[in-house]
Amino acid sequence: MPYENLDDEAVHQRTRAGQLPREAPDRLRLATVDGRTLDDRGGDSGASNDDPSATGIVKPLPPELFVEHETNAEMRWDAMGDIGFHVPNDRFFVRNHTSTPIIDAATWRLRLHGTGLSAPRSFGYQELLAMPSVTRDVAIECAGNGRSLFTTQQHQEVTGTPWRLGGIGVARWRGVPLATVLERSGITTDAVDVMARGLDPAYVADGVDYGRVRRPIPVAKALRDVILAYEMNDEPLPPDHGHPVRLIVPGWIGLASVKWVGDIEVSTSPLSSPWNTEFYRMFGDAYPPQGGAPLTTQGVRSAFELPWNATLVAGRPYLLRGRSWSGNGRIADVEVSLDDGATWQRAPLRGPHVASTWTRWQVTWKPAETGRHFLLARATDETGAVQPSHTTHNDFGYLFDAVVRHPVTVVSG
Ligand code: MTE
Repeated sequence: MPYENLDDEAVHQRTRAGQLPREAPDRLRLATVDGRTLDDRGGDSGASNDDPSATGIVKPLPPELFVEHETNAEMRWDAMGDIGFHVPNDRFFVRNHTSTPIIDAATWRLRLHGTGLSAPRSFGYQELLAMPSVTRDVAIECAGNGRSLFTTQQHQEVTGTPWRLGGIGVARWRGVPLATVLERSGITTDAVDVMARGLDPAYVADGVDYGRVRRPIPVAKALRDVILAYEMNDEPLPPDHGHPVRLIVPGWIGLASVKWVGDIEVSTSPLSSPWNTEFYRMFGDAYPPQGGAPLTTQGVRSAFELPWNATLVAGRPYLLRGRSWSGNGRIADVEVSLDDGATWQRAPLRGPHVASTWTRWQVTWKPAETGRHFLLARATDETGAVQPSHTTHNDFGYLFDAVVRHPVTVVSG
């Protein structure tokens, strides 16, 4: 028996959504932290979502593929059903603190400097292209992915861009190992931190100029598996994703994968920036007053390739597909509940099963009862980490890893 094609339903949902006035507030309610009202991009730019150019993103953002959040664009999971393992470049989510800069690769140079280098130098684009390259599938995921679920599922107040689960994508990245560039610049044995800085405009929030996006990573990570990527899915990096060169930091929060890299500082003493002191660490009741440690690896998460509030017809068989991922390594197991957590079944995994990416899975479902239902997916990774039923609250809404209750409505046929 053929499975019902959910894409028709997705099209219906989108058409309907397009007919509704865009009056819903785009942001979660702002919380006050240390007496200041903050969000994770800093303040409200006043940008209107109705004007595509207001995002500062270069590529088209058709509403059937993306949800715009001010300077950012979230991928729609219900548009994932017809794509394979990799997210095509024109569908990949965009997370920009400010706006996409247009950089001429012909005049661009990457400058390596700092106390941790014995031979500081710079590299041109063609020089990098001529160096031995690596190609690797890696997921980029925003630390704030899933943030809106703190509010909608756990009824907690957080601040920041209200991503649902579309702040992630997997692409095939090609570039030069960061280790090669560091070695050619004479990295010293006592170097401890490596900090790449982007060439996008300085990030200004509530009148504070935080400078250009930058964030240190420890030398051990920089030398292990970080790539200075110049290709995404076999094409030169598109402007929105870091052209001409960006970092790819497997397993770590997306912020570490600095786009539009202009310079890299290597230091024999620990480096800091607002992105590992003020932002991208845990604040809140469950954490020390000065904040938790700067965020590094992502947790375990899962998503259904379904419209949010999908409408399904009772008595018809559906093939429900989804993906799970973890910053710790490969996904070992995925269980799905089609009755709001009362019973669970193992979902067969399909396709590539590689660390630092996602694993696809599928289950069949013939809904019997009409009404509102919740579909749940719970993944376990190879380290034994399993998605909890509840994520401990933090003020900025980072790292929401709880099992998501995906709402669907079953109607009679
Ligand atoms: N690099 C620079 N220079 N500026 C940025 O705003 N955003 C970071 C990271 N690198 C950012 C950046 C964040 S928070 C994420 S999640 C990823 O880029 C998003 O990468 P993408 O836009 O290619 O999906």
